[in-house]
Amino acid sequence: MHGIIFLELQKFARQQAGAQAWETLLSEAKLPVKSYSAVRSYDDQEILSLVGAASRILNLPATAILEAFGEFIAPALIRLYGRLLQPGWKTLDVIENTEKLIHTAVRVGNPGAKPPVLDCIRTTEDELQIMYSSERQLCCLAKGIVKGLARHFGETITLTDDSCMLRGDPFCAMQVTRTAGEASTPP
Ligand code: HEM
Repeated sequence: MHGIIFLELQKFARQQAGAQAWETLLSEAKLPVKSYSAVRSYDDQEILSLVGAASRILNLPATAILEAFGEFIAPALIRLYGRLLQPGWKTLDVIENTEKLIHTAVRVGNPGAKPPVLDCIRTTEDELQIMYSSERQLCCLAKGIVKGLARHFGETITLTDDSCMLRGDPFCAMQVTRTAGEASTPP
């Protein structure tokens, strides 16, 4: 997994639980204290160990940790690849274009990175279907990112999942509906 994700998890831990939270997490995850770099990737097992450690420390399911982290990380993701986004885009527009513009750029620019495939269908101006597939099965992180984008753009959304890999389905299907917020402006 890309180093950016680890650096943001470090910020998230410190924001939630104080200056020593990251070191505590590394220790609980049985990982050495080291500096993660934003220009390289690390073993997926490390992120899973860190999320597992947070889950034990906080006595919360790993899915809840991933969702909260997804919400936290959304503005940083927007900053990271903001140059590829149209200025008037809001939550649904960004998600709809993530696969084509952003995750593709991540794959090309970072050999070894494997962001999930997000197949989207924009059913109406205010409704979007997302089909998420990834062998990592981090759909809860995806849900958190969707909620974080909505907060970032000052929109209210509802999110429902019709199928989920964690329940044995071959992919996750989520329906995002915008219920309040200003409409996006055309480019
Ligand atoms: C807004 C701009 C976005 C940027 C810059 C971005 C960037 C990235 C990067 C760098 C990774 C790490 C990939 C790796 O190391 O293999 C990643 C993973 C991921 N992204 Fe995105 N992403 C964006 C939007 C989204 C959206 C809208 C969603 C969900 C609706 C999403 C869902 C995920 C998930 C769940 C992962 C974890 C890896 C996995 O599931 O296999 N991303 N993304």
